[in-house]
Amino acid sequence: MQGKLQFGIGLLATILSLPALAADTVHITIDAAKPGAQINRNIFGQFAENLGHGLYGGIWVGPDSSIPNTRGIRKDVVDALRELHVPNVRWPGGCFADQYHWRDGIGPRDKRPATVNSAWGDVIDTNAFGTDEFMDFIQQIGSTPYVSINIGSGTVQEAHDWLEYMTAAAPTALAKERAANGHPDPYKIGFLGIGNESWDCGGAMTPDYYVSLMKVYSRFVANMNPAQRAQDPMLKIAVGPGTPETAWTEAVMQAWKKHTWSWDINGLSLHWYTVPNGWPPSTNSEKFGLDDYVKGLHTTLFMDEFLRKQEAVMDKYDPAKKVTLTVDEWGAWHAPLPGTNPAFLIQQNSIRDAILASLNLNIFARHADRVRMANIAQMVNVLQSMILTDQQKMILTPTYYVFKMYVPFQNATFLPVTLDAGSYTHNGVTLPRLDAIAAKAVDGKFLLAITNLDPESAVDVDAGLTGTPAKAAHAETLTAPAIDSVNSFASPDSVVPKSSAVQVQGGKLSLQLAPRSITVVSIEQ
Ligand code: AHR
Repeated sequence: MQGKLQFGIGLLATILSLPALAADTVHITIDAAKPGAQINRNIFGQFAENLGHGLYGGIWVGPDSSIPNTRGIRKDVVDALRELHVPNVRWPGGCFADQYHWRDGIGPRDKRPATVNSAWGDVIDTNAFGTDEFMDFIQQIGSTPYVSINIGSGTVQEAHDWLEYMTAAAPTALAKERAANGHPDPYKIGFLGIGNESWDCGGAMTPDYYVSLMKVYSRFVANMNPAQRAQDPMLKIAVGPGTPETAWTEAVMQAWKKHTWSWDINGLSLHWYTVPNGWPPSTNSEKFGLDDYVKGLHTTLFMDEFLRKQEAVMDKYDPAKKVTLTVDEWGAWHAPLPGTNPAFLIQQNSIRDAILASLNLNIFARHADRVRMANIAQMVNVLQSMILTDQQKMILTPTYYVFKMYVPFQNATFLPVTLDAGSYTHNGVTLPRLDAIAAKAVDGKFLLAITNLDPESAVDVDAGLTGTPAKAAHAETLTAPAIDSVNSFASPDSVVPKSSAVQVQGGKLSLQLAPRSITVVSIEQ
Protein backbone atom coordinates (compact mmCIF):
# COMPACT_ATOMS: atom_id res chain seq x y z
CA MET A 1 0.00 0.00 0.00
CA GLN A 2 2.74 2.44 0.99
CA GLY A 3 4.64 1.52 -2.21
CA LYS A 4 1.57 2.33 -4.35
CA LEU A 5 1.04 5.62 -2.54
CA GLN A 6 4.64 6.61 -3.06
CA PHE A 7 4.42 5.66 -6.76
CA GLY A 8 1.27 7.80 -7.10
CA ILE A 9 2.89 10.82 -5.46
CA GLY A 10 6.01 10.38 -7.61
CA LEU A 11 3.89 10.30 -10.80
CA LEU A 12 1.93 13.37 -9.75
CA ALA A 13 5.16 15.20 -8.93
CA THR A 14 6.55 14.33 -12.38
CA ILE A 15 3.41 15.57 -14.09
CA LEU A 16 3.59 18.83 -12.12
CA SER A 17 7.41 18.85 -12.63
CA LEU A 18 8.07 19.16 -8.89
CA PRO A 19 10.81 17.12 -7.21
CA ALA A 20 9.39 13.76 -6.17
CA LEU A 21 8.97 13.74 -2.40
CA ALA A 22 8.82 10.59 -0.37
CA ALA A 23 5.45 9.82 1.15
CA ASP A 24 6.79 10.45 4.63
CA THR A 25 8.31 13.82 3.77
CA VAL A 26 8.35 16.09 6.80
CA HIS A 27 6.91 19.56 6.18
CA ILE A 28 8.52 22.41 8.04
CA THR A 29 7.00 25.87 8.23
CA ILE A 30 8.95 28.84 9.49
CA ASP A 31 6.68 31.57 10.75
CA ALA A 32 8.52 34.66 9.56
CA ALA A 33 5.70 36.91 10.74
CA LYS A 34 6.08 36.05 14.42
CA PRO A 35 9.62 37.00 15.45
CA GLY A 36 10.54 35.97 18.97
CA ALA A 37 13.42 36.96 21.23
CA GLN A 38 16.95 37.61 20.13
CA ILE A 39 19.17 34.54 20.39
CA ASN A 40 21.85 36.19 22.47
CA ARG A 41 25.27 35.33 21.10
CA ASN A 42 26.41 34.68 24.66
CA ILE A 43 24.64 31.30 24.61
CA PHE A 44 27.61 30.15 22.51
CA GLY A 45 30.00 30.85 25.40
CA GLN A 46 32.62 28.39 26.58
CA PHE A 47 34.26 27.30 29.79
CA ALA A 48 38.02 26.97 30.32
CA GLU A 49 38.82 25.70 33.79
CA ASN A 50 42.25 25.08 35.26
CA LEU A 51 41.70 21.34 35.01
CA GLY A 52 43.86 18.64 33.43
CA HIS A 53 45.08 19.82 30.04
CA GLY A 54 42.32 22.38 29.60
CA LEU A 55 44.74 25.26 30.04
CA TYR A 56 48.19 23.71 30.35
CA GLY A 57 49.01 22.00 27.06
CA GLY A 58 45.64 22.86 25.55
CA ILE A 59 45.95 26.64 25.49
CA TRP A 60 49.18 27.49 27.28
CA VAL A 61 52.49 25.97 26.15
CA GLY A 62 54.79 28.80 27.23
CA PRO A 63 56.80 31.18 25.04
CA ASP A 64 59.78 28.81 24.82
CA SER A 65 57.75 25.87 23.49
CA SER A 66 58.49 24.36 20.09
CA ILE A 67 54.72 24.39 19.54
CA PRO A 68 53.98 27.59 17.59
CA ASN A 69 52.65 30.16 20.04
CA THR A 70 52.06 33.83 20.63
CA ARG A 71 53.39 34.85 24.02
CA GLY A 72 52.95 31.25 25.21
CA ILE A 73 49.45 30.69 23.81
CA ARG A 74 49.03 28.03 21.10
CA LYS A 75 48.52 29.54 17.67
CA ASP A 76 46.62 26.55 16.23
CA VAL A 77 44.08 26.65 19.07
CA VAL A 78 43.66 30.42 18.80
CA ASP A 79 43.14 30.22 15.02
CA ALA A 80 40.52 27.50 15.42
CA LEU A 81 38.66 29.34 18.18
CA ARG A 82 38.60 32.61 16.25
CA GLU A 83 36.43 30.86 13.66
CA LEU A 84 33.80 30.24 16.33
CA HIS A 85 33.43 33.92 17.34
CA VAL A 86 33.44 32.73 20.94
CA PRO A 87 31.41 35.40 22.75
CA ASN A 88 32.67 34.77 26.28
CA VAL A 89 34.98 32.44 28.17
CA ARG A 90 34.41 31.43 31.80
CA TRP A 91 37.60 31.06 33.83
CA PRO A 92 39.30 29.93 36.14
CA GLY A 93 36.59 27.43 37.23
CA GLY A 94 34.42 25.54 38.13
CA CYS A 95 35.32 24.01 41.43
CA PHE A 96 38.83 25.37 40.90
CA ALA A 97 37.56 28.96 41.14
CA ASP A 98 36.77 28.67 44.85
CA GLN A 99 40.36 27.65 45.53
CA TYR A 100 42.09 30.13 43.27
CA HIS A 101 44.16 32.95 44.72
CA TRP A 102 44.77 35.39 41.90
CA ARG A 103 47.99 36.80 43.33
CA ASP A 104 49.67 33.42 42.70
CA GLY A 105 49.23 34.03 38.97
CA ILE A 106 50.61 37.52 38.34
CA GLY A 107 54.08 39.02 37.92
CA PRO A 108 57.21 37.38 36.52
CA ARG A 109 56.42 33.75 35.84
CA ASP A 110 59.66 32.44 37.30
CA LYS A 111 58.74 34.01 40.64
CA ARG A 112 55.21 32.61 40.84
CA PRO A 113 54.61 30.02 43.55
CA ALA A 114 53.97 26.38 42.74
CA THR A 115 50.63 25.43 44.28
CA VAL A 116 48.54 22.28 44.33
CA ASN A 117 45.41 21.98 42.23
CA SER A 118 43.48 20.10 44.86
CA ALA A 119 40.24 20.42 42.91
CA TRP A 120 41.59 18.34 40.04
CA GLY A 121 44.05 15.58 40.79
CA ASP A 122 46.39 17.29 43.27
CA VAL A 123 48.78 18.18 40.47
CA ILE A 124 51.34 20.95 40.80
CA ASP A 125 50.16 24.22 39.33
CA THR A 126 53.00 26.45 38.15
CA ASN A 127 50.57 29.37 37.96
CA ALA A 128 52.16 30.29 34.62
CA PHE A 129 48.68 30.87 33.19
CA GLY A 130 47.29 33.65 35.36
CA THR A 131 45.18 36.75 34.92
CA ASP A 132 47.34 38.52 32.33
CA GLU A 133 47.77 35.35 30.28
CA PHE A 134 44.02 34.72 30.35
CA MET A 135 43.32 38.27 29.20
CA ASP A 136 45.90 37.87 26.43
CA PHE A 137 44.17 34.67 25.32
CA ILE A 138 40.79 36.42 25.36
CA GLN A 139 42.16 39.23 23.25
CA GLN A 140 43.79 36.80 20.80
CA ILE A 141 40.56 34.88 20.18
CA GLY A 142 38.45 38.08 20.20
CA SER A 143 36.20 37.19 23.12
CA THR A 144 34.97 38.61 26.45
CA PRO A 145 36.13 37.47 29.91
CA TYR A 146 33.73 35.84 32.33
CA VAL A 147 35.69 35.69 35.57
CA SER A 148 34.52 33.58 38.53
CA ILE A 149 35.66 34.89 41.88
CA ASN A 150 36.62 32.80 44.88
CA ILE A 151 33.96 33.07 47.57
CA GLY A 152 34.77 29.65 49.06
CA SER A 153 38.33 29.91 50.37
CA GLY A 154 38.89 33.56 49.48
CA THR A 155 37.77 36.81 51.04
CA VAL A 156 35.74 39.79 49.92
CA GLN A 157 38.92 41.90 50.10
CA GLU A 158 40.82 39.47 47.89
CA ALA A 159 38.09 39.50 45.23
CA HIS A 160 37.80 43.29 45.47
CA ASP A 161 41.54 43.63 44.92
CA TRP A 162 41.46 41.30 41.93
CA LEU A 163 38.83 43.49 40.29
CA GLU A 164 40.91 46.54 41.08
CA TYR A 165 43.96 44.89 39.50
CA MET A 166 41.97 44.05 36.40
CA THR A 167 39.76 47.08 35.89
CA ALA A 168 41.08 50.20 37.63
CA ALA A 169 41.98 53.00 35.21
CA ALA A 170 43.02 55.46 37.92
CA PRO A 171 46.62 55.12 39.14
CA THR A 172 45.87 52.99 42.20
CA ALA A 173 48.55 50.73 43.63
CA LEU A 174 47.02 47.68 41.96
CA ALA A 175 46.53 49.43 38.61
CA LYS A 176 50.21 50.38 38.79
CA GLU A 177 51.11 46.79 39.53
CA ARG A 178 49.18 45.70 36.46
CA ALA A 179 51.01 48.31 34.40
CA ALA A 180 54.35 47.13 35.80
CA ASN A 181 53.36 43.65 34.64
CA GLY A 182 53.05 45.03 31.11
CA HIS A 183 49.36 45.98 30.96
CA PRO A 184 48.79 49.68 31.47
CA ASP A 185 45.27 49.63 30.01
CA PRO A 186 42.51 48.32 32.24
CA TYR A 187 40.83 45.12 31.17
CA LYS A 188 37.13 44.96 30.54
CA ILE A 189 35.34 42.18 32.39
CA GLY A 190 32.03 41.28 30.76
CA PHE A 191 30.75 38.93 33.43
CA LEU A 192 31.54 38.16 37.04
CA GLY A 193 30.57 34.85 38.60
CA ILE A 194 29.93 35.10 42.34
CA GLY A 195 31.14 31.63 43.33
CA ASN A 196 30.56 28.23 41.76
CA GLU A 197 28.28 25.41 42.84
CA SER A 198 28.24 26.84 46.35
CA TRP A 199 25.80 24.08 47.30
CA ASP A 200 28.54 21.50 46.67
CA CYS A 201 32.24 21.92 45.81
CA GLY A 202 31.99 25.67 46.46
CA GLY A 203 31.47 25.17 50.18
CA ALA A 204 28.32 23.05 50.64
CA MET A 205 26.37 26.16 51.69
CA THR A 206 22.68 26.40 52.43
CA PRO A 207 20.71 28.72 50.14
CA ASP A 208 20.31 31.29 52.93
CA TYR A 209 24.00 31.32 53.75
CA TYR A 210 24.86 31.76 50.09
CA VAL A 211 22.35 34.58 49.64
CA SER A 212 23.91 36.54 52.52
CA LEU A 213 27.38 36.04 51.08
CA MET A 214 26.27 36.88 47.55
CA LYS A 215 24.92 40.24 48.69
CA VAL A 216 28.21 41.16 50.32
CA TYR A 217 30.29 40.15 47.28
CA SER A 218 27.87 41.89 44.94
CA ARG A 219 28.20 45.07 47.03
CA PHE A 220 31.97 45.20 47.34
CA VAL A 221 33.37 43.50 44.24
CA ALA A 222 32.89 46.00 41.45
CA ASN A 223 34.26 47.10 38.15
CA MET A 224 36.60 49.90 39.26
CA ASN A 225 36.47 51.73 35.95
CA PRO A 226 33.60 54.27 36.03
CA ALA A 227 33.77 54.92 32.27
CA GLN A 228 33.34 51.21 31.49
CA ARG A 229 30.63 50.91 34.12
CA ALA A 230 28.58 53.64 32.49
CA GLN A 231 29.05 52.33 28.98
CA ASP A 232 28.69 48.57 29.35
CA PRO A 233 28.35 47.31 32.91
CA MET A 234 29.92 44.08 34.12
CA LEU A 235 27.07 41.62 34.67
CA LYS A 236 27.06 39.70 37.94
CA ILE A 237 26.02 36.05 37.89
CA ALA A 238 24.90 34.37 41.11
CA VAL A 239 25.21 30.66 41.76
CA GLY A 240 22.04 28.85 40.78
CA PRO A 241 20.75 25.29 40.77
CA GLY A 242 22.46 22.08 39.72
CA THR A 243 19.47 19.81 40.22
CA PRO A 244 15.89 20.26 39.06
CA GLU A 245 14.76 21.20 42.59
CA THR A 246 13.83 24.84 42.88
CA ALA A 247 14.67 25.76 46.51
CA TRP A 248 17.97 27.42 45.58
CA THR A 249 16.40 29.44 42.78
CA GLU A 250 13.56 30.47 45.12
CA ALA A 251 16.01 31.74 47.71
CA VAL A 252 18.14 33.76 45.28
CA MET A 253 15.22 35.20 43.31
CA GLN A 254 13.23 36.06 46.42
CA ALA A 255 16.23 37.98 47.71
CA TRP A 256 16.74 39.62 44.31
CA LYS A 257 13.16 40.89 44.23
CA LYS A 258 13.93 42.87 47.38
CA HIS A 259 17.36 44.04 46.29
CA THR A 260 18.31 47.60 47.16
CA TRP A 261 20.67 50.17 45.60
CA SER A 262 23.59 48.50 47.36
CA TRP A 263 23.62 45.19 45.56
CA ASP A 264 22.24 43.50 42.47
CA ILE A 265 22.70 40.47 40.26
CA ASN A 266 22.02 40.18 36.53
CA GLY A 267 22.11 36.44 36.09
CA LEU A 268 21.49 33.13 37.82
CA SER A 269 23.74 30.27 36.87
CA LEU A 270 22.43 26.77 36.11
CA HIS A 271 24.59 23.67 35.76
CA TRP A 272 23.34 20.53 34.16
CA TYR A 273 25.38 17.82 32.49
CA THR A 274 24.18 14.96 30.33
CA VAL A 275 25.24 11.90 32.35
CA PRO A 276 23.18 9.13 30.74
CA ASN A 277 23.58 6.50 33.50
CA GLY A 278 23.81 8.97 36.38
CA TRP A 279 26.86 9.69 38.57
CA PRO A 280 29.63 8.64 38.33
CA PRO A 281 29.73 9.03 34.54
CA SER A 282 30.06 5.61 32.93
CA THR A 283 29.20 5.89 29.24
CA ASN A 284 31.96 5.46 26.68
CA SER A 285 32.85 8.47 24.60
CA GLU A 286 34.03 6.23 21.75
CA LYS A 287 33.25 2.68 20.65
CA PHE A 288 29.69 2.61 21.93
CA GLY A 289 26.46 1.13 20.60
CA LEU A 290 22.92 2.17 19.83
CA ASP A 291 21.75 1.86 23.45
CA ASP A 292 24.22 4.53 24.54
CA TYR A 293 23.44 6.73 21.54
CA VAL A 294 19.72 6.74 22.24
CA LYS A 295 20.12 7.07 26.00
CA GLY A 296 22.51 9.98 25.62
CA LEU A 297 20.19 11.98 23.39
CA HIS A 298 17.16 11.13 25.48
CA THR A 299 18.92 12.28 28.66
CA THR A 300 20.04 15.55 27.13
CA LEU A 301 16.50 16.52 26.12
CA PHE A 302 15.68 16.85 29.83
CA MET A 303 17.40 20.24 29.66
CA ASP A 304 14.15 21.73 28.38
CA GLU A 305 12.14 20.58 31.41
CA PHE A 306 14.91 21.66 33.78
CA LEU A 307 14.87 25.17 32.30
CA ARG A 308 11.08 25.36 32.44
CA LYS A 309 11.04 24.48 36.15
CA GLN A 310 13.59 27.14 37.03
CA GLU A 311 12.02 29.72 34.72
CA ALA A 312 8.65 29.29 36.41
CA VAL A 313 10.25 30.36 39.70
CA MET A 314 12.17 33.20 38.08
CA ASP A 315 9.02 34.46 36.33
CA LYS A 316 7.29 34.66 39.70
CA TYR A 317 9.84 37.13 41.07
CA ASP A 318 11.02 38.65 37.79
CA PRO A 319 8.23 38.67 35.21
CA ALA A 320 10.12 41.29 33.17
CA LYS A 321 12.92 38.73 32.74
CA LYS A 322 15.68 41.07 33.85
CA VAL A 323 17.73 38.27 35.39
CA THR A 324 19.31 35.96 32.83
CA LEU A 325 19.31 32.22 33.31
CA THR A 326 22.96 31.43 32.56
CA VAL A 327 23.58 27.77 31.76
CA ASP A 328 27.27 28.15 32.43
CA GLU A 329 28.08 24.45 32.57
CA TRP A 330 26.45 21.99 30.19
CA GLY A 331 27.42 19.13 27.93
CA ALA A 332 28.05 15.38 27.88
CA TRP A 333 30.05 13.91 30.74
CA HIS A 334 31.29 10.44 29.81
CA ALA A 335 33.71 8.05 31.53
CA PRO A 336 37.35 9.17 31.34
CA LEU A 337 39.25 7.69 28.40
CA PRO A 338 41.00 4.47 29.51
CA GLY A 339 44.59 5.07 30.55
CA THR A 340 44.11 8.77 31.28
CA ASN A 341 44.15 10.50 34.67
CA PRO A 342 40.49 10.28 35.77
CA ALA A 343 40.78 13.71 37.43
CA PHE A 344 41.57 15.26 34.04
CA LEU A 345 38.12 14.44 32.59
CA ILE A 346 39.47 13.53 29.17
CA GLN A 347 36.90 12.11 26.75
CA GLN A 348 36.48 11.67 23.00
CA ASN A 349 33.79 13.47 21.10
CA SER A 350 31.55 11.74 18.56
CA ILE A 351 28.77 12.63 16.16
CA ARG A 352 26.44 11.70 19.06
CA ASP A 353 27.97 14.55 21.08
CA ALA A 354 27.59 16.91 18.14
CA ILE A 355 23.90 16.03 17.89
CA LEU A 356 23.58 16.47 21.64
CA ALA A 357 25.17 19.93 21.34
CA SER A 358 22.76 20.95 18.61
CA LEU A 359 19.78 19.80 20.70
CA ASN A 360 20.94 21.88 23.66
CA LEU A 361 21.61 24.94 21.53
CA ASN A 362 18.14 24.54 20.02
CA ILE A 363 16.63 24.36 23.51
CA PHE A 364 18.50 27.50 24.58
CA ALA A 365 17.24 29.28 21.45
CA ARG A 366 13.66 28.32 22.31
CA HIS A 367 14.21 29.80 25.78
CA ALA A 368 15.96 32.86 24.38
CA ASP A 369 13.86 35.32 26.33
CA ARG A 370 15.33 34.02 29.61
CA VAL A 371 18.43 32.01 28.64
CA ARG A 372 20.74 34.70 27.37
CA MET A 373 24.02 33.07 28.20
CA ALA A 374 25.48 29.54 28.34
CA ASN A 375 28.91 27.93 28.51
CA ILE A 376 29.67 24.48 27.21
CA ALA A 377 31.98 22.43 29.41
CA GLN A 378 34.64 22.74 28.33
CA MET A 379 36.76 24.42 25.67
CA VAL A 380 39.89 22.28 25.16
CA ASN A 381 40.76 18.71 26.28
CA VAL A 382 38.14 18.55 29.06
CA LEU A 383 34.69 16.92 28.85
CA GLN A 384 32.71 17.85 25.70
CA SER A 385 35.42 19.99 24.23
CA MET A 386 35.79 21.87 20.99
CA ILE A 387 39.40 20.87 20.58
CA LEU A 388 41.67 18.01 21.57
CA THR A 389 45.45 18.41 21.62
CA ASP A 390 48.33 16.00 21.97
CA GLN A 391 51.66 17.80 22.14
CA GLN A 392 52.08 19.36 18.66
CA LYS A 393 48.86 17.88 17.31
CA MET A 394 45.38 19.35 17.44
CA ILE A 395 42.02 18.04 16.27
CA LEU A 396 38.68 19.76 16.01
CA THR A 397 35.81 17.75 17.44
CA PRO A 398 32.36 17.21 15.91
CA THR A 399 31.06 19.57 18.62
CA TYR A 400 33.43 22.26 17.35
CA TYR A 401 31.79 21.99 13.95
CA VAL A 402 28.30 22.41 15.38
CA PHE A 403 29.41 25.63 17.05
CA LYS A 404 30.93 26.74 13.75
CA MET A 405 27.80 25.94 11.76
CA TYR A 406 25.69 27.84 14.30
CA VAL A 407 27.76 31.05 14.17
CA PRO A 408 25.11 32.79 12.00
CA PHE A 409 22.60 32.22 14.83
CA GLN A 410 24.57 34.60 17.06
CA ASN A 411 22.22 37.51 17.86
CA ALA A 412 19.69 36.29 15.27
CA THR A 413 15.98 36.69 15.95
CA PHE A 414 14.17 33.50 16.86
CA LEU A 415 11.36 32.42 14.53
CA PRO A 416 8.81 29.73 15.44
CA VAL A 417 8.89 26.50 13.47
CA THR A 418 6.14 23.91 13.02
CA LEU A 419 6.86 20.37 11.97
CA ASP A 420 5.69 16.88 12.64
CA ALA A 421 8.97 15.57 14.03
CA GLY A 422 7.95 11.91 14.14
CA SER A 423 9.74 9.55 16.47
CA TYR A 424 12.44 6.91 16.65
CA THR A 425 12.28 4.14 19.25
CA HIS A 426 15.00 1.77 20.33
CA ASN A 427 14.83 -0.59 23.29
CA GLY A 428 11.84 1.24 24.73
CA VAL A 429 13.46 4.68 24.54
CA THR A 430 11.74 7.11 22.17
CA LEU A 431 13.37 10.15 20.64
CA PRO A 432 11.90 12.79 18.37
CA ARG A 433 13.14 11.94 14.90
CA LEU A 434 13.82 15.56 14.02
CA ASP A 435 14.49 18.77 15.89
CA ALA A 436 14.60 22.20 14.26
CA ILE A 437 14.96 25.89 15.01
CA ALA A 438 14.78 28.90 12.72
CA ALA A 439 15.87 32.49 12.97
CA LYS A 440 16.44 35.68 11.03
CA ALA A 441 20.15 36.40 11.06
CA VAL A 442 21.62 39.84 11.60
CA ASP A 443 22.48 40.00 7.88
CA GLY A 444 18.80 39.50 6.97
CA LYS A 445 19.07 35.87 5.82
CA PHE A 446 16.76 33.25 7.24
CA LEU A 447 18.33 30.28 9.00
CA LEU A 448 17.00 26.81 9.57
CA ALA A 449 18.91 24.25 11.65
CA ILE A 450 17.57 20.70 11.49
CA THR A 451 18.90 17.77 13.45
CA ASN A 452 18.08 14.25 12.31
CA LEU A 453 18.38 12.16 15.48
CA ASP A 454 17.44 8.97 13.62
CA PRO A 455 20.64 6.93 13.65
CA GLU A 456 19.60 4.76 10.71
CA SER A 457 17.39 6.54 8.19
CA ALA A 458 17.51 9.63 6.07
CA VAL A 459 14.54 12.00 6.23
CA ASP A 460 13.09 13.98 3.31
CA VAL A 461 12.07 17.48 4.24
CA ASP A 462 10.33 20.33 2.54
CA ALA A 463 10.40 23.73 4.17
CA GLY A 464 8.86 27.12 3.57
CA LEU A 465 8.52 30.51 5.17
CA THR A 466 5.05 31.94 5.73
CA GLY A 467 4.42 34.99 3.57
CA THR A 468 7.85 35.10 1.95
CA PRO A 469 9.05 32.78 -0.80
CA ALA A 470 12.60 31.48 -0.66
CA LYS A 471 14.73 32.45 -3.66
CA ALA A 472 17.99 30.67 -2.96
CA ALA A 473 19.45 28.47 -0.25
CA HIS A 474 22.70 26.95 0.81
CA ALA A 475 23.00 24.00 3.19
CA GLU A 476 25.81 22.48 5.20
CA THR A 477 25.58 19.09 6.90
CA LEU A 478 27.57 17.40 9.62
CA THR A 479 27.17 13.63 9.63
CA ALA A 480 29.38 10.60 10.09
CA PRO A 481 29.70 7.00 8.91
CA ALA A 482 28.64 5.60 12.30
CA ILE A 483 26.96 6.77 15.51
CA ASP A 484 30.29 6.60 17.36
CA SER A 485 32.46 8.20 14.67
CA VAL A 486 35.04 10.59 16.11
CA ASN A 487 37.91 12.67 14.82
CA SER A 488 41.15 11.14 16.06
CA PHE A 489 44.77 12.25 15.81
CA ALA A 490 45.26 9.50 13.20
CA SER A 491 42.13 10.48 11.30
CA PRO A 492 41.31 14.10 12.11
CA ASP A 493 38.75 14.70 9.34
CA SER A 494 36.32 11.80 9.71
CA VAL A 495 33.53 14.09 10.91
CA VAL A 496 33.57 17.44 9.15
CA PRO A 497 30.72 19.50 7.70
CA LYS A 498 30.13 19.43 3.96
CA SER A 499 27.89 21.36 1.60
CA SER A 500 24.68 19.46 1.01
CA ALA A 501 22.03 19.60 -1.68
CA VAL A 502 19.00 21.81 -1.23
CA GLN A 503 16.53 22.55 -4.02
CA VAL A 504 14.48 25.71 -4.17
CA GLN A 505 11.31 25.58 -6.23
CA GLY A 506 8.13 27.59 -6.04
CA GLY A 507 9.53 29.45 -3.03
CA LYS A 508 10.01 26.21 -1.06
CA LEU A 509 13.03 24.17 -0.15
CA SER A 510 13.46 20.46 -0.37
CA LEU A 511 16.35 18.49 1.00
CA GLN A 512 17.25 15.12 2.36
CA LEU A 513 18.70 14.88 5.86
CA ALA A 514 21.30 12.19 6.31
CA PRO A 515 20.85 9.85 9.28
CA ARG A 516 22.50 11.15 12.52
CA SER A 517 23.12 14.59 11.13
CA ILE A 518 22.89 18.31 11.71
CA THR A 519 22.08 20.57 8.77
CA VAL A 520 22.08 24.35 8.74
CA VAL A 521 20.30 26.01 5.81
CA SER A 522 20.77 29.65 5.01
CA ILE A 523 17.90 31.03 2.97
CA GLU A 524 17.67 34.18 0.87
CA GLN A 525 14.30 35.60 -0.01
O1 AHR B 1 33.33 21.05 34.62
C1 AHR B 1 33.83 20.25 35.62
C2 AHR B 1 33.23 20.56 36.98
O2 AHR B 1 31.86 20.26 36.98
C3 AHR B 1 33.27 21.98 37.44
O3 AHR B 1 34.49 22.33 37.99
C4 AHR B 1 32.18 22.04 38.46
O4 AHR B 1 31.62 23.31 38.58
C5 AHR B 1 31.20 21.00 37.96
O5 AHR B 1 30.77 20.17 38.97
